[in-house]
Amino acid sequence: MIRLDKYLADMGEGTRQEVKKSIRQGRILVEGAPVKKPEYKIDETKQRVTIDGREICYRQFEYFMLNKPAGVVSATEDPREKTVISLIGEAKRKDLFPAGRLDKDTEGLLLITNDGALAHRLLSPRHHVDKCYYAKIQGIVTEEDVKRFAEGVNIGTKECEEWTAPGGLEILKTDEASGISEIRLTLQEGKYHQVKRMFEAAGKTVTYLRRESMGSLVLDQSLKPGQYRRLTDEELESL
Ligand code: URA
Repeated sequence: MIRLDKYLADMGEGTRQEVKKSIRQGRILVEGAPVKKPEYKIDETKQRVTIDGREICYRQFEYFMLNKPAGVVSATEDPREKTVISLIGEAKRKDLFPAGRLDKDTEGLLLITNDGALAHRLLSPRHHVDKCYYAKIQGIVTEEDVKRFAEGVNIGTKECEEWTAPGGLEILKTDEASGISEIRLTLQEGKYHQVKRMFEAAGKTVTYLRRESMGSLVLDQSLKPGQYRRLTDEELESL
């Protein structure tokens, strides 16, 4: 059960003050009858709510798959930079956040939701959810790197070590002439700048990075950077 004013504000029908005004004006019907009290409690799973005759269905949780473009920060608010949340034009809820961070220059799969429990399950290393990245590397990635990554890498310093968990490194392509490699890296944790720091520890530089999947959720190839869509029921169930 939730308050009528919260129901409407959660669904993007205005600020709490604005929806209170609409309620007092008698524009809101619950089960066909006008309700003029903002504090009136309704069962959001059953009762039908309309504003000026238009039905407002309640969604407790929203889930969007965003293909994050470079140049946008993985934050809900930022005083200077454009945020990933500002890209979700259809969002109703004000409590959306990105489930995990991608660097400003990283592209790819980002789940935008207000479901904290799901985000925690996906991100916590204890839950061993694979995050899969595609990257272009300045430098020739070798089988030696594959072995090192499989054992875990010190991304700290000699004095102050910081070891990663094992990572699954797959070499997709190496080009001796340009000195550029293409790889896929699968990690189950998300330390700060982890992919870049793992390659730095191997004496190489990540020049392009894109996340392709998180657990069962795979970036939709039809989404261009900056585009998003709601998750399908099947995607949600498999998560
Ligand atoms: N690792 C990085 O270095 N950057 C990201 O954005 C994600 C993983």
